[in-house]
Amino acid sequence: MKNILLILIVTGCLIACTGNPSHKKTEMDKFVDNLLSQMTLEEKIGQLNLLSMWFDTTGPRMSRDVEQKVKDGLVGGVFNFWTPKAVRKLQDMVLTQTRLKIPLLVGYDVIHGHRTIYPIPIGLAATWDTEMIERIAVAVADEATADGLQWTFSPMVDIARDPRWGRVSEGAGEDPFLGAEIAKAMVRGYEQGDLSRPTSIMSCVKHFALYGAAEGGRDYNTTDMSHLRMYNEYLPPYEAAVKAGASSIMTSFNEIDGVPATGNRWLLTELLRNQWGFDGFVVTDWTAIYEMEDHGVGDRAKVTELSINAGVDMDMVSEYMIEELPALVKAGRVKESTIDAACRRILAAKYKLGLFDDPYRGISDERAKKQIMSADKLALSKEAALKSIVLLKNDKKTLPLDASKKIAFIGPLVKNQRTLLGNWAAAGDWEQIMTLWDALENKYAGAKFLYAQGCHLVEDGYIRRMTDQQNGNVIDDRPAQQLIAEAVQTARQADVVVAVLGEAYDMSGEAASRSNINLLDNQKALLKALKETGKPVALVLINGRPLTLQWEHDNIDAILETWLPGMRGGEAIVDILFGDANPSGKITMTFPRSVGQIPIYYNHKSTGRPFNNDSKFTVKYIDTENSPLYPFGYGLSYTQFTYSDVRLSDSTLTDGGNITASITLTNSGDRTGEEIVQFYVRDLVGSITRPVKELKGFQRIALNAGESKQVTFSITPELLKFYNADLKWTAEPGDFLVFIGKNSDVENNARFTLK
Ligand code: NOJ
Repeated sequence: MKNILLILIVTGCLIACTGNPSHKKTEMDKFVDNLLSQMTLEEKIGQLNLLSMWFDTTGPRMSRDVEQKVKDGLVGGVFNFWTPKAVRKLQDMVLTQTRLKIPLLVGYDVIHGHRTIYPIPIGLAATWDTEMIERIAVAVADEATADGLQWTFSPMVDIARDPRWGRVSEGAGEDPFLGAEIAKAMVRGYEQGDLSRPTSIMSCVKHFALYGAAEGGRDYNTTDMSHLRMYNEYLPPYEAAVKAGASSIMTSFNEIDGVPATGNRWLLTELLRNQWGFDGFVVTDWTAIYEMEDHGVGDRAKVTELSINAGVDMDMVSEYMIEELPALVKAGRVKESTIDAACRRILAAKYKLGLFDDPYRGISDERAKKQIMSADKLALSKEAALKSIVLLKNDKKTLPLDASKKIAFIGPLVKNQRTLLGNWAAAGDWEQIMTLWDALENKYAGAKFLYAQGCHLVEDGYIRRMTDQQNGNVIDDRPAQQLIAEAVQTARQADVVVAVLGEAYDMSGEAASRSNINLLDNQKALLKALKETGKPVALVLINGRPLTLQWEHDNIDAILETWLPGMRGGEAIVDILFGDANPSGKITMTFPRSVGQIPIYYNHKSTGRPFNNDSKFTVKYIDTENSPLYPFGYGLSYTQFTYSDVRLSDSTLTDGGNITASITLTNSGDRTGEEIVQFYVRDLVGSITRPVKELKGFQRIALNAGESKQVTFSITPELLKFYNADLKWTAEPGDFLVFIGKNSDVENNARFTLK
């Protein structure tokens, strides 16, 4: 017994110290131990310091004199920095001018492409195509590593139910299951199970945790939720990404249970390392340690102590670790072994990346020339844009357009380059982008399309100042009334009008929360004037979040949500508008009717007074519908898909067993199309209340007109598990409904019992 205990203790110690569950030290452990034994305390702390190199993005503190600090051995990694030449120069500096010659980690926010830019993440999520998303992550890794990078601050896996929050554009939306599937695909694609390959890039899962639940949708704001909600609804994508092998994770700006994430030991050690077995390293978000002073949990020494003792390994930009840790160790407030553990994790990441063998890993000018914006990557960007576009409405077959008709393209985004690229577009060059107008002229050379700008992209106060210079817009200073009058005149000459409206690229993303998520007033005024011409109007939206579109839905004939579609977005929109491609994307966040409905999400609880239209005293508003404008999973096609009833292979599922649920899907329209078939489960009675529906599977199915296919989902007890009141992962016997259909509003269901 004693012996077993000893083995357990030693094993536990080995796991805790090295992340390696085997008894034997690996070559890496030995290498890292040896290196660590040669390092001074200052050199170890230097490895924990991450600085911004070329530019400062955000936050209250900026990185200064970075090269000098690198030479002084005070830096473990840099970011906002790339190109073979620049990275080579910096690694050379380390190799020739520092004592221990430890290569730097080089990172960047490669969020939806590095130089080849793909649709923003919420657009990518709308494809529901995890196989393609993984291919994109592989392509991104290939391109970014050729350009000198080893580390990307992606994927962002924060579940978000509040479209006022600008960063919904950077994530996969509101659903934990879909979010987890996408998170896994991205980690797999980036890291490819082997960081030593020069074409794989280290991922960084962010923002740990619950950042998407910021109160009121205001960026950086407080979050507060029960552990049940956390475990069942918000944590699954982080956990899935960790289990898929993510090598680093970034803390979030918010607090959790009253303690900022960056100083939260329960989060970073108990949950992340002890419960989930994470063996990578933890980096803070930008100045997040520094910001803990403003959170009000201590002075600079105290917050540094809190963060390192909580489990933070690397300090992004605060520089509190290098400034405060030496004295904290001296005072006995931080153990040197804690610093050793953090340093060890950073050195291990560098080892796994192969940096000690080749500090110039993956970089060569030839590779860069070949890989950057290669034809296959640009084609992938277009494939993604095509699959991400969501048809929200299409009355009277307004779309697709007939190129032989007279068509007026109206709006400030028809000829705009910058917006298509989207926010956080890494090293993407918007000047290389083909606008929607260029794409039209390119494809239909000689056709006579009409054009008017119609309005400014942004007009309201500070939003306009914020976006004008950079949005690539032609600033037309004519008064609004004149722009509208010209647009109306143009529309009158046309058979059909296409209004291209939305948000400037920086109206979503970080620090871009909005209290209203409607089309800006000036754009709405234009749209109303166009509607009044009596011509059929199609609205093409280019924007980064769900918008409130009740008026548009009630008045405009067709609506196409194209997100911020990336480098080939202009061409993709044209292909969809004219029917060369059939829309197939489905929204991954609920579109509310009004901001007052927020938070609104499909997987809500039932309540004791479930919504009932005929009864006043049920969960509802008196001034608007209960339902959203467009539910989670919604999206139309130019063809129609019909679903058979749900068939179950058995009405009883036993422990360890497996049953299937199937439908026959038929393309009953007149053109080829792809349908995202969605599979939801409802647990009818539980020891805690359960959501009215939970997504548990999906498949993207391509069918020719008239074709049918059986689509099958497997159901196991594992699929039915949830965290109960004791936070135990369990499936409870009882009755379940399974739904299979086109969106979360599906009613088509069958019932089975888990014995
Ligand atoms: C702050 C953002 O919150 C985070 O997502 C990003 O990775 C860092 N800045 C680094 O740029």
